[in-house]
Amino acid sequence: MICSGHGAFIVLLALSCLIVPITYASKLPSQVLDFIHGGTIKNAGCNTNLSGKRWAVLVAGSKGYYNYRHQADVCHAYQILKKGGLKDENIIVFMYDDIAFNDNNPRPGVIINKPNGGDVYAGVPKDYTKDHVNAKNFYAVILGNKSALTGGSGKVVNSGPNDHIFIYYTDHGGPGVLAMPTGEYMYANDLNNVLKKKHAAKSYKSMVFYLEACESGSIFEGLLPNNLNIYATTASNASEDSYAAYCPEDSEAVEKYDTCLGDLYSISWLEDSDKHDLRQETLQKQYEVVQRRTVVGVSDRSSHVMQYGNKKQSNECLYYYMGTNPTNENYTFVKNPSSPSTLRVVNQRDANLLHFWHKYHKAPAGSHEKLKAQKELNDEISLRKHVDYSINHIGELLFGNGNSSKVLETVRPSGQPIVDDWNCFKMLVSTYEKYCGSLSKYGTQHMRAIANMCNAGVTMKQMVAASTQTCFKIPPTY
Ligand SMILES: *[C@@H]1O[C@H](CO)[C@@H](O)[C@H](O)[C@H]1NC(C)=O
Ligand SMILES: *[C@@H]1O[C@H](CO)[C@@H](O)[C@H](O)[C@H]1NC(C)=O
Ligand SMILES: *[C@@H]1O[C@H](CO)[C@@H](O)[C@H](O)[C@H]1NC(C)=O
Ligand SMILES: *[C@@H]1O[C@H](CO)[C@@H](O)[C@H](O)[C@H]1NC(C)=O
Ligand SMILES: *[C@@H]1O[C@H](CO)[C@@H](O)[C@H](O)[C@H]1NC(C)=O
Repeated sequence: MICSGHGAFIVLLALSCLIVPITYASKLPSQVLDFIHGGTIKNAGCNTNLSGKRWAVLVAGSKGYYNYRHQADVCHAYQILKKGGLKDENIIVFMYDDIAFNDNNPRPGVIINKPNGGDVYAGVPKDYTKDHVNAKNFYAVILGNKSALTGGSGKVVNSGPNDHIFIYYTDHGGPGVLAMPTGEYMYANDLNNVLKKKHAAKSYKSMVFYLEACESGSIFEGLLPNNLNIYATTASNASEDSYAAYCPEDSEAVEKYDTCLGDLYSISWLEDSDKHDLRQETLQKQYEVVQRRTVVGVSDRSSHVMQYGNKKQSNECLYYYMGTNPTNENYTFVKNPSSPSTLRVVNQRDANLLHFWHKYHKAPAGSHEKLKAQKELNDEISLRKHVDYSINHIGELLFGNGNSSKVLETVRPSGQPIVDDWNCFKMLVSTYEKYCGSLSKYGTQHMRAIANMCNAGVTMKQMVAASTQTCFKIPPTY
C-alpha cells in the first residue's frame, strides 16, 4: 500500500515518464506524401451510383470523465457520416452519455475532439446509452435481431445484400477482449462469430471495421477470415498498447479539461475524413495516412496500425461507407507542407492516472477535492498493484517460480489467435475475477497471461486453487 502524501510524490515521478512527446517524422499533406512514396496509391475514381444503403454502427465502450476521449471520437464519427449524407435511421450509436453534462466538463452540453474544436455532440442519436451499451446489444444490432435487444432505441442494422456497413469501436481492450461500460467483456471469438453469422445471412455487400483499443490486433489476428467481404484496420497490433492524444500536457486549451480529448488512431482517420472528398480517397490511402500518423517518433511508444480480413477491399472508396461532405468537393491539399510538429501521447491505460493527477495537482491544498483526487489516485494504484501481484502469484503457483514469467509472457506468432480454447479462456477469466476481483481496464493487459494458462493446459480446478490461495486475504472489493 502507498501511504497518503508519499504516494502522490511517487505518482508525480511516475507520470513524468508516462507522457511521451512524439515528433512526427512527417506531417506532410497526403498529396505530398503520395508523391514521395512513388504514387503507389491510385486515385479512387469511385462509382458514385451505389445501389444499396449505407449503415454505420459507432461504439464508445467506456464510461467516466477520464475516458472523455472515446465518446468524443464516436460523436465526431457521427458528424462525418451525417455530413457525408447517411441518414440517422442508418447510423446506430452506442455511448454511455455521461460526458456532455458531467460536472467536470468545462463546457456543459458540449463535447470536443481536439483542442479548441467545435461541438461534436449536437444531434448525435442516443440509441444505446447507459446500461444498454453492452456486448449483447452490440451483437443484436449488427445481426439486425430486434428480439435479442434489451432497451435502447430499437434501431438495428436491417441491411440487405447490396448494402455497405461501417463499424467503428473505440475504447479499452486487451489481448482477445474489448471492454464495454456494462455487462461482460466482448470476446474476440464471439465478435468474429457474429460477423460470420452476418455474412451467412447474406445481408451486406461489404463491411469495414475500424477498431481502436490496446492490443486491438488480437481481436482479428488469426480470427477474421478473408472471405467474408470484411476489411478491418486496428490501432495497434496484437501485442501493444494504443495511445490517447490531445492530452492536458499538450496545450493550454486541453489543460482545463484534465482529460485527453481523442485517441491517436481515431483522430487520424477522423481528421482525414473530415476534410477530403471521400469519392477520391480509398480505404488503402486512409490506412496509409493513419498508419504514418500513428507509428512515428519514439518507436517503443507508438503503435502499428494493422489491416485484416479482405485486404483487396482496401481499393474501394471511403465514399461507399462514409459518403462525402459536399463542401469538400474542391478540397485541394495545402501547398506548403507544415513543419514537423509535436503531439504528446499517453498510453490508453494510463490516461485515468493522468486525470486523477491533474485534479489532485489543481485542487487547493487541504480541500475536499484534493483529498478526493488523492484517494482516487491511490485507489487506482493499489488496484494495479493488486492485479499485477495476483496474476504473477497465480502464475508462480501454476508453473513454478522459474517458469512462470516465460509462460505468462509468451506471444504467439502472428497469424495465430491468442488462444485456441475460448471456453477455457472465459472460464479462467471469470474464475480469476470471482476470487481476486475485477481485472479492471488496467488489468486487461493480463488477458494474454490467462490465455497462455489455457494454452499450457491449466484446468478450471487448478485455477480455482491458485486463485483462492492467492487472493484469500484480499477481499474482491475492486
Ligand atoms: C445506377 O445503377 C442502376 C442499377 O444499379 C442503374 O439502373 C442506373 O441506370 C444507374 N444510374 C446511373 C446514373 O448510372
Ligand atoms: C434473435 O435473438 C433471439 C433471442 O436471443 C434468438 O432466439 C433468435 O434465434 C435470434 N434470431 C436470429 C435470426 O438469429
Ligand atoms: C507489435 O508491436 C510490438 C511493440 O511495438 C513489436 O515489438 C512487435 O514486433 C509487433 N509485432 C508485429 C507482428 O507487428
Ligand atoms: C467546386 O467548384 C465548382 C467549379 O468551380 C463550383 O461550381 C462548385 O460550386 C464548387 N463547390 C464548392 C462546394 O465550393
Ligand atoms: C519448470 O518446468 C520444467 C519442465 O516442465 C520442470 O521440470 C521444472 O520443475 C519447473 N520449474 C519449477 C521451478 O517449477
